[in-house]
Order: sequence, then C-alpha cells, then structure tokens
Amino acid sequence: MNSILITGGAGFIGSHLTRLFVTKYPQYKIVNLDALTYAGNLENLTDVEKAPNYHFVKGNITNLSLLRSLFEEHQFTGVIHCAAESHVDRSITDPLAFITTNVMGTAALLQVAKENWKDNMEGKVFYHISTDEVYGSLGQTGFFYEDTAYSPRSPYSASKASSDHIVRAFYHTYNMPIKISNCSNNYGPYHFPEKLIPLCINNIINNKSLPIYGKGENVRDWLFVEDHARAIDVIFHNGKIGETYNIGGHNEWTNIALVKELCKQMDEKLGREKGASEKLITYVTDRAGHDLRYAIDATKLKNELGWLPSLQFEAGISKTIDWYLQNTKWLEDVTSGNYQNYYEAQYNS
Ligand code: NAD
Ligand code: DAU
Repeated sequence: MNSILITGGAGFIGSHLTRLFVTKYPQYKIVNLDALTYAGNLENLTDVEKAPNYHFVKGNITNLSLLRSLFEEHQFTGVIHCAAESHVDRSITDPLAFITTNVMGTAALLQVAKENWKDNMEGKVFYHISTDEVYGSLGQTGFFYEDTAYSPRSPYSASKASSDHIVRAFYHTYNMPIKISNCSNNYGPYHFPEKLIPLCINNIINNKSLPIYGKGENVRDWLFVEDHARAIDVIFHNGKIGETYNIGGHNEWTNIALVKELCKQMDEKLGREKGASEKLITYVTDRAGHDLRYAIDATKLKNELGWLPSLQFEAGISKTIDWYLQNTKWLEDVTSGNYQNYYEAQYNS
C-alpha cells in the first residue's frame, strides 16, 4: 500500500493536491503534515477531512524528531513536498523565515527520508514542488526550459533555488529517488488573498483600491491550480526519477491587463456599471527587485507524460471569481484572522 506524506497540504496548492489524492486514490494512505502558518487553513479541506485514508498532523517540517516519528509510524513510500513560505513580498521583509522553512525544512525532510529509505530505495519517490522563479527574470521574449540556468533574485526564489539544489545533491550523492517540478503562477479557489488575483477579487468586492506595482507591465504565466495538481499526479506516478519537469499554461498576461480582465468580469457578475471597478486601480511603488517576466516551456511534460492544461484563462478566472463570491465566509475568516483563533483553540498552540 502506498503511504504518502504531503507537506503543506493545508495551503493553496497543497489542499487541491491533497483533495485529488485522497479522492482519486482511496487505496493510498495520505498524511498531511502542515504547520498551519497564516497560509495554512484546514477549512480548505473540510470536504475530505473525514475520509478514512486521510490523516492530518500539525507540525513543522524543520522538526527532525517529529519527522522521524512520522516515518516510523507511517512507513512512507512517497513524499510530495509542498510546504513553503511562498509569498515574495513577505520574503523581502522577513528573508530568514524563508531560509528556515524552504532550505532547512527541505533538507530535514530529505535527511529523514534518506535515513528511512537508504537500504531500499525501490518504489520510493521524494517529489519536490518548486517554482519557475528559480530561473530568474526573462526579457520580452524567450522561455524557461528545464535546463535554463538558475538566477533567483528574491529571498523567496533564492530559498527555493537552494532547496532544488539540495534535492538534486541528495539524488547524485545518495541515489535518493527524487523528482522536481517548477511551475508558473497558479490561481483558483483557496488562494490566500495576499497574492495578486485573490487580493484584487477581495478588494473589488469591498470597493477598495487595486494596488498595481510599478507600471503593471510585469508578465506572469497563469495556470489553474487544479491543472497543477493534475500535473503533480502525473509526474509523481509516471515521471522519471532524477528528472525535472516544467509546468505552465502558455498563458502570459501583464499585471495590468489581468487586473482589467478581473474588473470587467466582476462588474458583470456584481451587476456594476461597466468600468466601475477599473476606477479602483492604483499604481503604487514597485516591488524591490521585481522580476519582469516569467514564461514556462512545458513541452517536455506534454511530450513525455501527455499533460496539457484543461482550462482557458478567461473560463478559469470566471470559475475562480464565482468561487470567491460564493465563499465570502472563507474570505472574511481568512482576512479577519478568525481561522487562526480557531486553530489555537483546536490545537492548543
Ligand atoms: P501557501 O503559502 O498557500 O501554502 C504553504 C503551506 O505550507 C501552508 O499550509 C503552510 O501552513 C505550510 N507551511 C509553511 N511553513 C511550514 C513549515 N515550516 N512546516 C510545515 N508546514 C509549513 O503556498 P502555495 O502557493 O500553495 O505553494 C505551495 C508550493 O508550491 C510551494 O513550495 C511554492 O513554492 C510552490 N509554488 C507555488 C506557486 C504559486 O503560484 N502559488 C507556483 C509554483 C510553485
Ligand atoms: O511564478 C510562481 C510564483 O508565483 C510562486 O512561486 C509564488 O509562490 C507565487 O506567490 C507567485 O509569485 P508572484 O510574485 O508572481 O505572485 P504575486 O501574486 O505576489 O504577484 C503577481 C504579480 O503581481 C507580480 O508581478 C507582482 C504583482 N503585484 C502583486 C501584488 C500582491 C502587484 O502588482 N500588486 C500586488 O498587490
């Protein structure tokens, strides 16, 4: 029986991945280890929390003794490592938190997996979820390929790049059965409203200003989060050991065009006058070291494993806006911090 440790399963991408694995693979045991930082939210998983093959553990990936006892108890055959500090702006104000979780936490997981698997690596997988930001910033043209040289420019992306290197070092040095994927910007339900898309949806609902860094000319390549979860499933099961796969939507938008699309769709859905939400757009001071453009070439994933994105962006954004409009309680709890109080009561920490 497969026994899989998913780290960060209460976060944005981790919760979609956990839901997919718990429902699609009832024969697997899925253990979700999450520290429930501000970004982790068990309300993201209420629909699967009672499933017999699902088990939640509140804990930190830097805690070696916890990791050792979890490996002992559950005899993991696979690890899918999503836990991270993930917000670039927070990494600018608090870089050490990113180095602790993203670098030290990844190294701790690798170390304990190695201790447990070293005598028999057969059938084991340590799958590290990474980002396209490790490749740095593109100009107006070109794409990130799997062999593009790393050039991270923020404390977040540098910490992710560092963790990728450590994962590969464990492959080359100890034959650890690793896989890595580097994905572009995700969007969809349960996205924490500190990131551009959910922040703007929330602010449009509340008639608050929409902060655009610099001139809004920076470009991101957006992928619906469920398509990312599907790609992880495919790579976990069919990807080659030791390989890296890029995941992306071939879906580039400047920030300003994207926010205008959000405004247009939300005016229609909220029954507001055409152009009403665009008036909320406010240009603010640029992000320090702001990467100009990301764009993924995901040909390897398509050709080798047959994965393609399923949703067109306008449809995905429409679905995402609808989810936020139907889940105002989730949005209010997350933004008011109520859910943190719930966790303290629930877990007494
Ligand atoms: P998120 O911030 O929404 O969730 C992170 C989760 O990790 C939270 O549940 C949090 O509680 C948990 N966590 C944080 N520190 C922890 C620790 N020390 N121990 C245990 N749990 C901890 O992040 P996300 O956007 O879902 O990103 C998930 C992964 O995917 C990250 O590794 C990120 O680098 C990567 N990624 C994200 C995107 C994106 O667009 N969001 C794109 C590509 C790659
Ligand atoms: O590319 C993958 C990465 O995408 C992931 O690794 C990160 O975890 C994820 O947070 C995301 O990083 P970005 O920095 O691209 O996402 P964010 O939503 O923070 O910003 C998207 C773009 O919008 C970026 O160019 C900065 C800009 N922005 C962001 C915010 C929060 C604004 O203009 N105003 C804002 O208020």
